[in-house]
Amino acid sequence: MINAYISGTGSYAPQNVVKNDFFQSVGSSDKWIYENLGIKERRISTGETTSDLAYKAGLEAIENAGLQPDDIDLIILATATADRLAPSCACFVQEKLQATNAVAFDISAVCSGALFATSTGVQFIKSGMYKNVLIIGADTFSNITDWSRRDSVFFGDGAGAMVLSNTTENKGFIDFSLHTDGTGKEHFTVLAGGSEQPSCKESIETGHHYFKMNGPEVYKTAIDVVPKSISKILSKNNRKVDEIKFMLPHQPSIKILKEVARRIDMPFEKVKTNMDRYANTSGGTIPIILDETLKNNQLEKGDLLLFAAVGAGWTWGTALYKW
Ligand SMILES: CC(C)(COP(=O)(O)OP(=O)(O)OC[C@H]1O[C@@H](n2cnc3c(N)ncnc32)[C@H](O)[C@@H]1OP(=O)(O)O)[C@@H](O)C(=O)NCCC(=O)NCCS
Repeated sequence: MINAYISGTGSYAPQNVVKNDFFQSVGSSDKWIYENLGIKERRISTGETTSDLAYKAGLEAIENAGLQPDDIDLIILATATADRLAPSCACFVQEKLQATNAVAFDISAVCSGALFATSTGVQFIKSGMYKNVLIIGADTFSNITDWSRRDSVFFGDGAGAMVLSNTTENKGFIDFSLHTDGTGKEHFTVLAGGSEQPSCKESIETGHHYFKMNGPEVYKTAIDVVPKSISKILSKNNRKVDEIKFMLPHQPSIKILKEVARRIDMPFEKVKTNMDRYANTSGGTIPIILDETLKNNQLEKGDLLLFAAVGAGWTWGTALYKW
């Protein structure tokens, strides 16, 4: 049986650090942001595009897998902030990497994007069609943020990447549990720039090119659907919470993650976080946190990992992985 395992990881965030005090001018504070969201600072691009970030994270993942760019068969880029509406941002990354043998496309699932992209890449490997698939989650939400509004505190820019390779060993992805509920689409959205409301003078004047978020709805949904998805994947695979070494979740807010952990009865020490340094990097969060965990030498052969994400759409899901 062919399975897919993570053979290399990488990450990259812009050098420009924006601390919480910056947001005093929009009526927020370091205290509120840290207590409610767990954020101390975030990285904000000063000109680098999403594909620039994705390229750097992707190249590092390829190098750490001991491969060359032309060993990559497929690039799947999860992003909600592509360089352009067309072509896909993955094409930009394929060109920058000179991954001349790779097919490349984007996946749009906002904060669940990296998980949805990974599940797609795994299928290409399990089917035997491809051997090495580069998954990248990259976003520059700074480009769709209204910096005069208080909700500008939530996001940071960043990218994470992982190479999935084929194996016949007893390791890799065990299962995915993925979900979508389009009735939630108004609760986090960018109204303009698509076919429903093409960019025009009015769309700019009304700020419809910025993200619009219903914070309380995000909170209510996240703490409900994520624990249910975790329970589902664990019971389907006859696993228990205490067998999990770490949960590597998307990073919406510390309060959401604490409540998710409480509901599944997982000690919070097992939940990896990095929103204090990066805020919510949307598609980037899960591969960035995996890369950090690996670089900190915290994973050993046989460790069971749980990936979990929730995002706009609604989209959400979990993955179970044996290191
Ligand atoms: C945003 C969030 C913290 C708001 O909390 P809430 O209790 O649900 O909703 P409220 O809008 O009533 O806000 C509560 C208080 O926080 C304050 N507040 C909200 N946003 C704030 C900000 N950015 N800075 C400072 N204070 C803020 C409100 O003024 C309110 O204060 P008050 O009680 O004195 O009136 C919460 O809904 C949340 O964490 N949502 C998840 C959002 C998220 O994770 N998004 C990213 C993924 S898409």
